[in-house]
Amino acid sequence: MSEPRFPDRNLAMASVVAGSVLSLALLAQEAVPTKDGDAHLEHGRQLYAMHCQRCHGSNGDDFTCSGDMTPLAGLGRRPRVDLVGQVMSPSYFLRGVAYQGADARDLTGFLLSLKGEKEIDDPGLLCLPRLLSKRWGLLDYYRVIDLRGGAAYAKGHIPNATRWPGLEEGGECRACAADVVAQKLGLLAVRPEMTVVIYDDTLTPASALLWWDLVRAGQKNVAILDGGFRRWVEEENQVTTVVTPLTPVTYTSPGAAEVAPGPEGRDHPVLRLSAGLRQPSAGVFDWERTLSDGRLRTAGEIREYLNRSDVRFPGAYRLEGSDAEAAYLVYVLRLLGFHRAHYDPIGKLLAVDSSNLPASESRTHLTAPLQP
Ligand code: HEC
Repeated sequence: MSEPRFPDRNLAMASVVAGSVLSLALLAQEAVPTKDGDAHLEHGRQLYAMHCQRCHGSNGDDFTCSGDMTPLAGLGRRPRVDLVGQVMSPSYFLRGVAYQGADARDLTGFLLSLKGEKEIDDPGLLCLPRLLSKRWGLLDYYRVIDLRGGAAYAKGHIPNATRWPGLEEGGECRACAADVVAQKLGLLAVRPEMTVVIYDDTLTPASALLWWDLVRAGQKNVAILDGGFRRWVEEENQVTTVVTPLTPVTYTSPGAAEVAPGPEGRDHPVLRLSAGLRQPSAGVFDWERTLSDGRLRTAGEIREYLNRSDVRFPGAYRLEGSDAEAAYLVYVLRLLGFHRAHYDPIGKLLAVDSSNLPASESRTHLTAPLQP
């Protein structure tokens, strides 16, 4: 039974893709930074408030107006196929509005700056089940990786999801070398321009460790499913036992843009990684405190927690804890806009340099080129 592969709506979408590539490429070109970035962003905000906000909400993730709504925050990290939505959106059809030139550029820029319901600087790294429920069928653009145990996977998983090769049951979580990761990505027919979505039972350090492995191997768009499989089921999304066959490819890493030099010197303060603390405690990062019911808390809540634990960035720390917990901290920092937060598993060093202050009100999204 191969029916979960291509639900009708995705076929319909794929046919729109073909016709829209040109206009999207133009839009993408126009979204490049200019000196008047602020004015453009403000203009885009006004257009959005006038024509889009009543359905999509001020943060882009409002679902109150339609059960069929697609979240907008994080658009810049989805494969280009998603931007087709700009032409597919009901308002474009119903009102016959065509955005061109400066309007298209500024509106696109503003869409890329949306932070979503959790006010995250880089919301494309966190995937809402609602988005994945509309995307899992696009096998050429999305790869969904299940990190739970083999038995759980066999019992039921997200359609088209595949297991990460070589995962040992109960095995220790350690960071993997980039060439090993690239080889496994090839086995799963992942290409660099695709978006990878990782899920575990909930949002866990184990999922962040795989996320970090993939990012270090050069994969740009890797997201973790917020709330994991548990939330997927709670929100009544489709589950299957069908295993989708994938034809291996040779994965060619797009390059080592991620490699950042580690901080110099040996006397960095120690940051302990832990779980289940009752109180925020100075010098300790407790990943469980960034979650509620297995889902990420809001960016504001996480920042407040980091402050109360006296964890300050930019800075460098020597981490004491597992690679998975360290990767989780990097993941959280990148969500908060520290785009180059980096953890070196060998030296156990976490570095967040001063050029990577939280994207001041996310302007970096305007300057980031649209992902292909
Ligand atoms: C009448 C309500 C409504 C208005 C107004 C509206 N939208 Fe939408 N939009 C939707 C719904 C519903 C969807 C989901 C449709 C789907 O996925 O097939 C959607 C989907 C989208 C998507 C696709 C996201 C993706 O990843 O596929 C984009 C982009 C989008 N809208 C942008 C806009 C913009 C920009 C405006 C304003 C110019 C706008 N929309 C106005 C209801 C609306």
